[in-house]
Amino acid sequence: MSLASQDPLDGVTTRCHRILMTGAAGNLGKVLRDRLKRYADVVRVSDIADLGTAREQEEVAACDLSDPRAVHELVAGVDAIVHLGGVSVERPFEEILPANIQGTYNLYEAARRHGVRRIVFASSNHVIGYYKQGEMLDADTPPRPDGYYGVSKAFGEQLASFYFDRHGIETVALRIGSSFPEAKDRRMMVTWLGYDDLEQLIKRSIFVPDVGFTIAYGASANRDRWWDNSKAARLGFRPVESSEQFRARVESVPPLPADDPAGWYQGGAFVKAGPFGD
Ligand SMILES: NC(=O)c1ccc[n+]([C@@H]2O[C@H](COP(=O)([O-])OP(=O)(O)OC[C@H]3O[C@@H](n4cnc5c(N)ncnc54)[C@H](O)[C@@H]3O)[C@@H](O)[C@H]2O)c1
Repeated sequence: MSLASQDPLDGVTTRCHRILMTGAAGNLGKVLRDRLKRYADVVRVSDIADLGTAREQEEVAACDLSDPRAVHELVAGVDAIVHLGGVSVERPFEEILPANIQGTYNLYEAARRHGVRRIVFASSNHVIGYYKQGEMLDADTPPRPDGYYGVSKAFGEQLASFYFDRHGIETVALRIGSSFPEAKDRRMMVTWLGYDDLEQLIKRSIFVPDVGFTIAYGASANRDRWWDNSKAARLGFRPVESSEQFRARVESVPPLPADDPAGWYQGGAFVKAGPFGD
């Protein structure tokens, strides 16, 4: 077998004792809540929003990520963190700052103090949202955020890079495209990430050895691509889903008018959000 076809998870145990997932009440948190039990004896689910009562194999921990003491307690005793929590759309900077910037700092600092060695950081395509649609990017393409939200995710990536270099905490930063049940428009035909591919990416990000600080794009095996994942080859991510199943429906709707910037940039409609409070 050639090296290229070897799976980096061959011979690696894909189970640990306790995984913490922040943002567990959100869209992707709901998708992953039960799926993560395949990879840990206990999943500690956390959010600022209500999570209901603990299910089997679960611990439920309410936590505001902007509160450093609460985050410190939250992180005690975990082997790995899947960090989904925070504001997930473009909002005024005053809302982004505590949840995404202070919150991600609190999480990394708690991880350092508790000796957690691996974090999966839910970054976003909005880190590179101001590149033109059709332009091929990879993990070394400089950030070009399309709003405060994208800036906060670029901050999280840089923080993760620093915590690896300084403290050896490994991170896979996933620049997730559009992870929804369906691709709903022409942009999402390119950026769509199916939930099975999301799970594969999260699993690999937790367990593949020696990832250091890795940036990976989260898109399925869609017909058209803007993102080259070759620099994240270490993960061995092989998407198996495709947005093609949604093409007929998506293309039955007229495209955006030629003068709509949502159709020009990779970040889509996020480039039109705000300014806020004028
Ligand atoms: N769904 C996607 O397609 C997509 C694309 C790119 C990036 N992402 C990222 O993936 C993650 C999950 O996305 P999602 O679609 O599930 O988002 P979501 O908005 O549904 O979930 C985010 C969760 O974070 C929680 N949260 C917000 N502020 C918090 C705080 N201060 N303390 C604790 N929890 C807080 C919210 O209550 C919510 O449940 C987010 O970080 C998002 O930015 C998602």
